[in-house]
Amino acid sequence: MQEINMQLSHEKSAALLERSKKVLAGGVSSEFRKFNHPHALFYDHAEGVYIYDVDGNKYLDFTLSQGPMIVGHSHPHVLKRVRDYSEKGQLFAGQHILEIELAEKLNKYIPSAELMRFCLDGSTAIQTAFRVARAKTGRNKFIRFEGHYHGWLDNVSWGLTLNKDKMGTRETPIPLPWSEGIADGVKHEFIILPWNDLELVKKTMAENHNEIAAIITEPIMCNSSCILPEEGFLQGLRDVCTHYNSALIFDEVITGFRTGLGGAQKHFGITPDLSIFAKALASGYPISAIVGKKEWMHSLAEGKVIHAGTMNSGCALIAAALGTIEVLEQEGTHERIYALGHRLMEGLRKAAKETGQNLLVQGLGPMFHTGFADVSKIKEYREVSAYEQPKSKLFIQGMQQRGVRIIGRGLWYISAVHEEKHIDHAIEMAKETLIELK
Ligand SMILES: Cc1ncc(COP(=O)(O)O)c(C=O)c1O
Repeated sequence: MQEINMQLSHEKSAALLERSKKVLAGGVSSEFRKFNHPHALFYDHAEGVYIYDVDGNKYLDFTLSQGPMIVGHSHPHVLKRVRDYSEKGQLFAGQHILEIELAEKLNKYIPSAELMRFCLDGSTAIQTAFRVARAKTGRNKFIRFEGHYHGWLDNVSWGLTLNKDKMGTRETPIPLPWSEGIADGVKHEFIILPWNDLELVKKTMAENHNEIAAIITEPIMCNSSCILPEEGFLQGLRDVCTHYNSALIFDEVITGFRTGLGGAQKHFGITPDLSIFAKALASGYPISAIVGKKEWMHSLAEGKVIHAGTMNSGCALIAAALGTIEVLEQEGTHERIYALGHRLMEGLRKAAKETGQNLLVQGLGPMFHTGFADVSKIKEYREVSAYEQPKSKLFIQGMQQRGVRIIGRGLWYISAVHEEKHIDHAIEMAKETLIELK
């Protein structure tokens, strides 16, 4: 196919990176953007399933900008919505009608979304959920799980580093900070546990429930190997939170709108008290939502819990969210995303088998993970150490050289505008790369 560009040149990107490093710390605006191949790249434009760098290389995109571009890049309907509504104004320091329309949509689709507030990103919306949970329970701590990413702010930047010698035992993990400069005191705000171990959660809650305001979890552990919840695990979290009057918080920043319009809570049939939606909500425009049951969210309504933000719910952001949802509402969209995801996962598994490679493919379909390991399943964060990281890196580089772009940690996202021909092309390129890796 014509999009193969085996000998990619990155001369212009390299020159821009050097220029950029003189004024942008590390040459980037988000840490993860450093890790492209062969270095941070500069992109020029993107449309549909393709993204183009400044050197004219064209990539079939499965990163979808770390998830948000669920209806593809530059979707005409979303752009029209943004253009039309932005002409009325940008930000009013006051309310506007589309906010209600968007909230009504979320209320219609998301089981727990009785009341909500809009924020700018996942990280800040998650902090709002903690505040709400603390206010209602009068307790300070939350339980969270190793390998789950809940944003980059201080009290959640722990338990994201695999260091066998320092991370304590599986049952009593020692949280390790993810970055320098994190306030040490915040480690008293949470208890960290391995995921998918309900008995351990129950035991910890039995011993500490007087202190636990909330349990926060990604309903699918997308950020580390795309691990699905074990049968009964999410229901078990629901039951234990109900029993002890703690909030169950679903971090649906990735799963929201991707697993379906109702998020993972609808997909699995488990209703949390509070949840966070971001990424796929608005096609790359910065908007997130904290949604929840009235009994939890009323503290915001009454102003007992303060949530604010100068830039919250600007016209373009809300219009982008409505436009994105309107595209997703078209009949059969999610079914197609799932079908394409399954086709790609199966195709990759077959290619691995045919080439004798230990490529492990796991996830739900709309998003999934690939890595190389001699195991049949990864089911919690510590098991991620089974992956042969250098080989995974080479695979991703090999794919990028062939014009197929995947997230550096092995995550793939499917959009509503991918087609079977794109999926089959990616499988063909993966097979070539797997042969090369031998
Ligand atoms: C599950 C999850 N929660 C929270 C966040 C943080 O969201 P944001 O980057 O919008 O602050 C992310 C970001 O990747 C995420 O994947």
